[in-house]
Amino acid sequence: MQLLDGKVVSAKIKEDIKQEAAEFLQEKGRKPHLVAILVGNDGGSETYVASKMRNCEMVGFDSTNIRYDVEISEAELIAKIEEINTDATIDGLIVQLPLPPHIDPEKITAAIDYRKDVDGFHPVNLGRMQRNLPCFIPATPYGIMLMLEHYNIDTAGKKAVIVGRSNIVGSPMSILLARNTQPGNCTVTITHSRTQNLREEVLQGDIVVAAIGKKNFVTADMVKEGAVVIDVGINRETSTETKSGFKLFGDVDYENVAPKASWITPVPGGVGLMTIVGLLKNTLEAAKGTIY
Ligand code: GUN
Repeated sequence: MQLLDGKVVSAKIKEDIKQEAAEFLQEKGRKPHLVAILVGNDGGSETYVASKMRNCEMVGFDSTNIRYDVEISEAELIAKIEEINTDATIDGLIVQLPLPPHIDPEKITAAIDYRKDVDGFHPVNLGRMQRNLPCFIPATPYGIMLMLEHYNIDTAGKKAVIVGRSNIVGSPMSILLARNTQPGNCTVTITHSRTQNLREEVLQGDIVVAAIGKKNFVTADMVKEGAVVIDVGINRETSTETKSGFKLFGDVDYENVAPKASWITPVPGGVGLMTIVGLLKNTLEAAKGTIY
């Protein structure tokens, strides 16, 4: 078993991004600028946004975190998004999900100018991705593709099984792995809560992407010998063992699956770090105007 090491890959790509951000500053007299809107005080979301902001600083981007009380109306939030859409000093805008129930995430996603949609959630970016046109690719799937590319994992003609059909990970991942690119050219199966014979389906996978949001969901009996296993899960549990008071678990039973895998991502230290890289790369592209 070999490790798909998010620490190594993310550090290397972030060095490249840092270099490019310095060149951007030299040329344009300003830094690439990401704005993240956070509504309410979900613990996980707070951690993720703080990490995104910290990583922006690390690579020489400007970052702004706009926080709103959970009570903010949908109209107020859209008004702020429209203001940012026309602000030439801001390159990328993300609205952290989940949003409170009175705010429709589809409306919010559609309100963001697709040219600043560095999350790649806007229908324009999604449609362009499906057609293999230049676009912003959602950060987690983008990061996974960069990881597969870094380790030169040959995916062509292989069977990829994705566990989970979310808009953020499972669904875009299926498009990317099926595209005529390297990595890509896979025969893709998406499995979900209504899949019959889940174990048999996942067992077919030369590549398994676990993105279901349940601790230790993918067990050793579900994984083919020699499979490439990508664990997208970030399941937080309170713990007295760690300084933060939380411990992270993936969607894969790592201890028992790792001996069967040819390659595997750890949690933490795997896909999570690559998600940040995907977001930083999109923000840099937005600033440089290379996509739109
Ligand atoms: N919530 C979980 N993942 C993400 C993400 O990639 N972007 C945003 N905006 N919210 C999320």
